[in-house]
Amino acid sequence: MPFTLSYPCDDFGALIERLENNSRGIGIPEGFVPHSTFWLVTDEQEVVGVSNLRHALTPGLQREGGSIGYGVRPSRRGRGYASLLLKLTLEKAGAIGLRRVLLTCGKENVASARVILKNGGVLDSEEFIEERNEIVQRFWVDLAKPANGGCQ
Ligand SMILES: CC(C)(COP(=O)(O)OP(=O)(O)OC[C@H]1O[C@@H](n2cnc3c(N)ncnc32)[C@H](O)[C@@H]1OP(=O)(O)O)[C@@H](O)C(=O)NCCC(=O)NCCS
Repeated sequence: MPFTLSYPCDDFGALIERLENNSRGIGIPEGFVPHSTFWLVTDEQEVVGVSNLRHALTPGLQREGGSIGYGVRPSRRGRGYASLLLKLTLEKAGAIGLRRVLLTCGKENVASARVILKNGGVLDSEEFIEERNEIVQRFWVDLAKPANGGCQ
């Protein structure tokens, strides 16, 4: 789940200001890159998912973390929300000028891998990450190519 979910939200205005600042590189820890947070909200105004788009890759993010993190509310999983959220976040990535997006995910996280593959992810590498005690897979999405290979 994106770490910005842990930001206090009792003062909504302050939360929005903090997130906007983060997207401009303000108020972020040393070594962090500017990042944008997006909420997936239904027509009924329910927040069902959140994504975090990192505007650049550091060596650490290249190893594990990638360009985008996302999560869906547990009670709303299995309804296609993550697939939609990633699709919309990839559009945001294209809008800030990224040409390729790196996505990483634990090898056991089959649902997330499926979401990535459905959005045009191509497996690049995998590595056992000791701190996580799991194998992490890395996928690239080429934003110049349509996710479905051009087929309708
Ligand atoms: C991973 C996560 C984002 C998926 O969210 P979601 O809204 O349930 O995902 P979607 O409904 O869009 O798609 C899930 C896909 O995985 C498939 N899937 C789910 N569980 C599966 C399983 N155990 N085995 C195989 N496929 C599975 C679904 O069938 C679906 O594919 P389909 O559309 O082809 O049928 C959600 O489980 C989550 O928030 N997990 C915790 C945070 C996390 O892991 N984030 C990703 C970090 S890399």
